[in-house]
Amino acid sequence: MKQSSFFTKVVHHKADQSAALHSKATPIYQTSAFTFKDLDDLEKYYEGDTSYLYSRERNPNPEELADGVALLEEAEAGVSAASGMAAIFAGILSVVKPGDHIIAAEDVYGGTHNLLTNELPALGVEVTMTSFHDPESVKGEVRTNTKLIYSESVTNPFLRVEDIKGLVQIAEKNELKVMIDNTFATPYILQPLNDGADLVVHSATKYLGGHSDATAGVLVGERELVDKARKKIVSLGSNLSPFEAWLTYRGTKTLGIRMEKQSGNAKALSEAMKKHANVEKVFYPEYVSDAGNGAIVTVALTKDVDMNTFYRALGWIKIVPSLAGVETTVSVPSRTSHRTLSPEDKERFGIDDHVVRVSVGIESAEDIIAQLEQSIEASK
Ligand SMILES: Cc1ncc(COP(=O)(O)O)c(C=O)c1O
Repeated sequence: MKQSSFFTKVVHHKADQSAALHSKATPIYQTSAFTFKDLDDLEKYYEGDTSYLYSRERNPNPEELADGVALLEEAEAGVSAASGMAAIFAGILSVVKPGDHIIAAEDVYGGTHNLLTNELPALGVEVTMTSFHDPESVKGEVRTNTKLIYSESVTNPFLRVEDIKGLVQIAEKNELKVMIDNTFATPYILQPLNDGADLVVHSATKYLGGHSDATAGVLVGERELVDKARKKIVSLGSNLSPFEAWLTYRGTKTLGIRMEKQSGNAKALSEAMKKHANVEKVFYPEYVSDAGNGAIVTVALTKDVDMNTFYRALGWIKIVPSLAGVETTVSVPSRTSHRTLSPEDKERFGIDDHVVRVSVGIESAEDIIAQLEQSIEASK
């Protein structure tokens, strides 16, 4: 039928040549829903056809990202979420219900710490945050209702390397699941599932995306658990948007070369910082894997360094309360990522204003080192 009215024409105009265009990159399926030819076509979807219905439930771009990360992590399945926190929450909910108990490392990312110590207990989940420095102490916390051990492969901000195999041993003896946040290491450096973890989560906002232009999360692991987590994401509406997924997926293409370069630069920076008289301590892992030790270097400056002058003198290195972009940036854990920790916890962990977390970028190592050294010199 001819569409005579402007009001009809304006909404129904569509070039619709996507199948004929052979585009190299996946198009962005920036649509909230999908169309159906007739009732038979609609029924096919509910019978398990691979087509799409509604983007909160499924959309090609978030799926492409999740499948890509699952491949890199050598996982059975993956699901994308609106942020790292959304992926963490869904992953945890795929394992625990009210009345269950989680044992978590006390030195996890501040936002995760808050989820574990405030939000989950409010939902009736018991949580014990403890030091994971010695897996034996984790063993001592196992209760009859314990279901999950949670940690990060490389912790934030002091870059402790988790003994994942040690945690898996405890989990296997007690029929628990192990969930690991692999944001800092990335699958380029480490694949925790290969060490026996059941779920791996990413703030894809960080290295997977790599360009500081998208907020995203990905959860990968055992298909059964990932399917449960997907249902939570659909119910909670914490799905990833097609555009954010597209940007993040594009970022993953360069993950290998970025991590190779950034880890090399970070190693060089950590060595230079160790020699500096105004650096009290350098935190940089000695060994994460043969692929490298990651691209974050945390530096505790001596107390005679004036921190405001230091940050003002940093020039092209900006204070950014995030990490993992291609540019070198610094963050102040005491004021941002770990701000919500109690003063006692901050003191216990050694997080104060003199602790600077450097997210090392892809610039030349010499320039990064020179810029940091010059800022320290200028602020004594
Ligand atoms: C290790 C780690 N996990 C999870 C998150 C949370 O990720 P998002 O900000 O994407 O929700 C962050 C954020 O900084 C992080 O550093």
